[in-house]
Amino acid sequence: MKMKAAYTIFILVVSLTLFDVSNAQKLSNNFYKRTCPRVEMIVKEIIQNRIRKSPSLGAKLIRMQFHDCFVRGCDASVLLDTVNNTKAEKEAVPNQSLSGFDVIDEIKTAIERACPRVVSCADIIALAARDAVSAHVNNPFYITALKQQVFRQFSFHILFLQFKKPLWDVQLGRRDGRVSLATDINGNLPGPFSNISSLIQVFNRKGLDVNDLVVLSGAHTIGDSHCAAFSRRLYNFTGKGDADPSLDQTYAETLRKQCPNPASTAITVEMDPGSSLSFDNHYYDILLQKKGLFVSDAALLTDRNSNRVVTRLQRSPSSFFSSFAKSMKKMAAIGVLTGHAGEIRQNCRVINPLK
Ligand code: HEM
Ligand SMILES: *[C@@H]1O[C@H](CO)[C@@H](O)[C@H](O)[C@H]1NC(C)=O
Ligand SMILES: *[C@@H]1O[C@H](CO)[C@@H](O)[C@H](O)[C@H]1NC(C)=O
Ligand SMILES: *[C@@H]1O[C@H](CO)[C@@H](O)[C@H](O)[C@H]1NC(C)=O
Ligand SMILES: *[C@@H]1O[C@H](CO)[C@@H](O)[C@H](O)[C@H]1NC(C)=O
Repeated sequence: MKMKAAYTIFILVVSLTLFDVSNAQKLSNNFYKRTCPRVEMIVKEIIQNRIRKSPSLGAKLIRMQFHDCFVRGCDASVLLDTVNNTKAEKEAVPNQSLSGFDVIDEIKTAIERACPRVVSCADIIALAARDAVSAHVNNPFYITALKQQVFRQFSFHILFLQFKKPLWDVQLGRRDGRVSLATDINGNLPGPFSNISSLIQVFNRKGLDVNDLVVLSGAHTIGDSHCAAFSRRLYNFTGKGDADPSLDQTYAETLRKQCPNPASTAITVEMDPGSSLSFDNHYYDILLQKKGLFVSDAALLTDRNSNRVVTRLQRSPSSFFSSFAKSMKKMAAIGVLTGHAGEIRQNCRVINPLK
């Protein structure tokens, strides 16, 4: 009996150890603790300077991370420039309006100076997106909660007022891919006219559920869209010169004034009007008022499960912030390269030369 118990414990210890080894190459909070301890500070400083000059940057960077992670995993393939006439991801149609590549370059240059060839471009995207969005938290509830936390920790609240606390922890240790193809966008990135079943399907394929879909769509609380992404809802929804009945008709009229038919590529509108620089749960308010901009936004009301999530997030800012942190962590881990896979790119726009 004793022998058997000891044997069981032995097996347990061995399998736990093995388990640990197989997980050794997962992402971690302090991946660069020894090799590049200042990495988070460097990213944060550059982002804060850039956001001060260009407040719309936050939206660009979190969208960049979404596009990176959904296509070939979070491997910075979205940053690669086209070589040899094979169009890279960033040349695909949904790329229109992707930007912020110069910010990533600036961060990469600063990091290479501090700790050469250690930090991946994929990790830089994840940190930059987090810091850029955190700079837009303007929610009284969240700020009160933060102040309490800061007082508890006996820190100076002056410090907090200057540098808003990041919204979530970023897991690090990603490596960079060597391939970027415009054709990989197909079937991986959902379009703005997607219905609920295809949205759920695309997210499921990335290991994300309905809850993640609704929570992450909340990123549309910041940023702008070009008219083409929703113009059909205003003028020609079913091809009979009609408007989308699921869009508030007064709001549709406002949008028609902003976006004449045919859609101009030069015009953008706020996705969460009047609040498009504030990262808050207001997106869910406008959804429930039938003012979600895309078919894919309105679609979140058409399924019982997703509808329930919308209502929960609309009611509670704190629930939105904690859910967003959780879902971002999941999204930021899609298909990551770790360990010896991939490489640490020296320049985020080009793969390293083969040795
Ligand atoms: C659920 C499926 C989604 C669809 C169909 C979708 C579609 C779009 C489209 C069409 C635009 C407008 C682009 C333009 O015309 O400039 C846009 C903007 C944006 N999206 Fe999404 N998106 C989705 C999910 C997400 C997710 C998961 C995130 C991030 C977590 C995100 C973040 C953003 C942001 C921040 C913008 C504004 C960009 C800017 O201001 O430049 N989206 N999205
Ligand atoms: C681009 O073309 C050159 C010359 O044909 C070739 O040496 C190089 O390997 C190609 N690069 C890529 C990334 O395919
Ligand atoms: C997006 O793709 C178009 C061609 O489809 C290209 O002209 C444009 O430069 C690309 N934008 C970015 C930011 O790479
Ligand atoms: C949803 O969209 C997909 C892809 O466009 C289509 O095949 C499917 O029939 C649509 N489903 C519904 C219920 O409209
Ligand atoms: C509306 O859509 C139909 C069918 O796609 C098309 O034939 C027609 O030209 C469109 N009308 C306008 C005003 O865009």
